[in-house]
Amino acid sequence: MKRRGQSTLKERLRYVNKAYRKSGPVEVVQTWMQLPRGNKIALPSRFGHEDIRCADSLVEYCVNEFSQAGEVVFDPFAGFGTTLMIAEELGRQGYGIEYSKGKADYVRKLLERPERLIHGDSRKLLEYDLPLIDLCFTSPPYTNRSDTENPFVDYRQKGFDYPSYLQEMGSIFSQVAQKMKPSGRLVIEASNLKKDGEVTTLAWDIAREVSRIFHFDGETVICWEEYGYGYNHSYCLVFSKP
Ligand SMILES: C[S@@+](CC[C@H](N)C(=O)[O-])C[C@H]1O[C@@H](n2cnc3c(N)ncnc32)[C@H](O)[C@@H]1O
Repeated sequence: MKRRGQSTLKERLRYVNKAYRKSGPVEVVQTWMQLPRGNKIALPSRFGHEDIRCADSLVEYCVNEFSQAGEVVFDPFAGFGTTLMIAEELGRQGYGIEYSKGKADYVRKLLERPERLIHGDSRKLLEYDLPLIDLCFTSPPYTNRSDTENPFVDYRQKGFDYPSYLQEMGSIFSQVAQKMKPSGRLVIEASNLKKDGEVTTLAWDIAREVSRIFHFDGETVICWEEYGYGYNHSYCLVFSKP
């Protein structure tokens, strides 16, 4: 027997999930999605413990949704190069910056245009020779409110704090804004974090900080079978140039 509440919920889910919606108002941002996790490329075992990549499915969705063939897709926290590799596969120009030399050297071997991945520091983004950006897709290094290691130097420096983290994020994304075309979009994948009974509202705090620079178009909740940090969803925070 179907209960009343169940069918109402189903109808509401049908409405918010674009794939099921037949007609209705056009929304700039999809409200939620369920996507498969995973990456085509298996990392060498030396990186196994550092595998915190964005899922290929999410990057593919965002690159297709927010950029056109031939455009510049940039990732200031390139990591294992998911954004750059998928951008190249989809006929975009993939550019990025990665702080870890080990990761940057590894990723360069997989790229068609290895020179477009800079081994460097996104806090100094404007010092690099980058083209104007159409889409910036990224997932930043995470930190808990009580952590003291600086995530922008591979967690190797102590004496850091959460307000400084948010301030650095603001500074990096204001540099991204200066390199972005007027029609450009910024998409940040981030999650809130549960640790020792405390929640760091990281995704929400990043959204607030970056909204000082970009126009916040809205968030998409990405539902995963498995994620981490005490959650099985993350957020895609979508922004445009004001
Ligand atoms: C969450 S990971 C990104 C994962 C990436 N999206 C992928 O799929 O592989 C964040 C990355 O940012 C890099 N990072 C941290 N601070 C940085 C900085 N100041 N400049 C550039 N990259 C930085 C880290 O080394 C890490 O690889």
